[in-house]
Amino acid sequence: MPSTIETEAKRRRTFAIIAHPDAGKTTLTEKLLLFGGAIQLAGEVKAKKNRTHSRSDWMKIERERGISVATSVMTFEYGDNIFNLLDTPGHEDFADDTYRTLSAVDSAVMVLDAAKGIEPRTLKLFEVCRLRDIPIITFVNKMDRESRDPFEILDEVEEKLALDTAPITWPIGRAKSFAGTYHLADNAVRGSDSEVERTQVNGPEADAAAGLLPENEREGFIEGVNLAREACRPFDQESYLEGHLTPVYFGSALKNFGVRDLIHALAQFAPPPRAQEADKRKVEASEKGMSAFVFKIQANMDPNHRDRIAFARVCSGALDRGMKARLVRTGKSLTLSAPQFFFAHQRQTADTAHAGDVVGIPNHGSLRIGDTLTEGEDFVFRGVPNFAPEILRRVRLKDAMKGKKLTEALQQMAEEGVVQLFIPDDGSPSIVGVIGALQLDVLKARLDAEYSLPVEFETARFSVCRWISSENKASFDAFLNKHRSSTAKDLDGDPVFLAENGFSLNYEAERAPDMVFKTIKDYQ
Ligand code: G4P
Repeated sequence: MPSTIETEAKRRRTFAIIAHPDAGKTTLTEKLLLFGGAIQLAGEVKAKKNRTHSRSDWMKIERERGISVATSVMTFEYGDNIFNLLDTPGHEDFADDTYRTLSAVDSAVMVLDAAKGIEPRTLKLFEVCRLRDIPIITFVNKMDRESRDPFEILDEVEEKLALDTAPITWPIGRAKSFAGTYHLADNAVRGSDSEVERTQVNGPEADAAAGLLPENEREGFIEGVNLAREACRPFDQESYLEGHLTPVYFGSALKNFGVRDLIHALAQFAPPPRAQEADKRKVEASEKGMSAFVFKIQANMDPNHRDRIAFARVCSGALDRGMKARLVRTGKSLTLSAPQFFFAHQRQTADTAHAGDVVGIPNHGSLRIGDTLTEGEDFVFRGVPNFAPEILRRVRLKDAMKGKKLTEALQQMAEEGVVQLFIPDDGSPSIVGVIGALQLDVLKARLDAEYSLPVEFETARFSVCRWISSENKASFDAFLNKHRSSTAKDLDGDPVFLAENGFSLNYEAERAPDMVFKTIKDYQ
């Protein structure tokens, strides 16, 4: 008999939705929760959507942070499965947050706008998934509008992403006449998502299939189904799990088509919690000992209390309320007295969480992004990435007396993942690094509001940052000595090289062949 730990892990599906803005991620999220039974009314997620698109509008982000904690993880139960949907920020300036969240999922749903196909951000996010071998289910959305031919969309996915496609359902009609989805292998039809059960038919010619369409569109639909069956690749579970093939579903999140098919696909095909790589060994989800890692931190919800919620993904065992966990980075023990679960937009104290679940752990600064928690064993999970910042700035205080306070505040912001912090080796003022300019606005606003530290940013002499290492200690020391005014340490004390531009980076790199310059660093 499998243990409870194994059974509970197996029924979890922890996933994220990747999409270019406007493809329909929010609408689909809302409908997954609706048909998954987690919320009563559609529109609840939508109403709280972070619609901040302009830099001047950053205050809204702040206002919505209270909500985003709750909507960062959405859990719903459907059939025998428990689904954990991890939300990712929509704005590309917060891309590093998205990448970290993707390190905590086992699979992803890629939403495409049926009229637009693969868009730039879809491509970028897909590449991150590929790097991590995250299997992807494709949902072609907005079939109720004028859209491309389904075969054309499949071709584009194959060509632009070098990813095999296997359509599982086929749209019954398009645009105004879109009437439902046809399951190619099962010969089953689902009209809208209000139909919990599908209708079994003998073939696409059936009244319940082609019969739903206007006379002049029936022939085209029947031909499409037959061609899809003959010409398209059949679904192959292994190939999907390895990230080489994507099953494709068609639908309309707005008009309630194809969402139930997608939930079934996640239940049927998407992997349960995967084994996670740690520095010393691989950790299986079915192991008895609890282990988890922190991939996101949301802090200062209440500025008077400097409280933080660390989002931890459970990787093995069971996380029980009140248990003592070992924080491997410090070796200290941490009592998990009030771990929290998230249901739609509510928080609830969690009694037990299993592999695949995400719990919020309130703390006062003891937890950082990338931290590993165990029941005593000494290993550190790999794979929560740190990306070299694209914008570097020095922080100038309006009140020079508050230097120490600023250092502390920047350190906390860096631990939270708002910015990266670099302390130059030559003793000059700290440098902050971000991926997107909006992050600087958030930093400035939060330093002011939460720490009473009004600051300005100054362009640093540098614009490129790389983590440096070398197998040859003498070369490494020589490089550090030579570049003392352009090297610094990050939050973990790891050395970085700061260059004025890409050209000078290449110039120095060519002259130091023993040195390795990295754009991505795993935390810790
Ligand atoms: P995002 O989170 O990926 O950015 O997309 P979101 O769900 O907000 O959807 C973007 C727009 O596309 C919204 O319209 C939404 O109503 C619409 N939409 C989403 N799914 C479908 C679909 O299946 N069919 C059609 N026809 N439209 C869809 P909007 O006008 O920008 O917003 P709103 O004013 O309707 O809220």
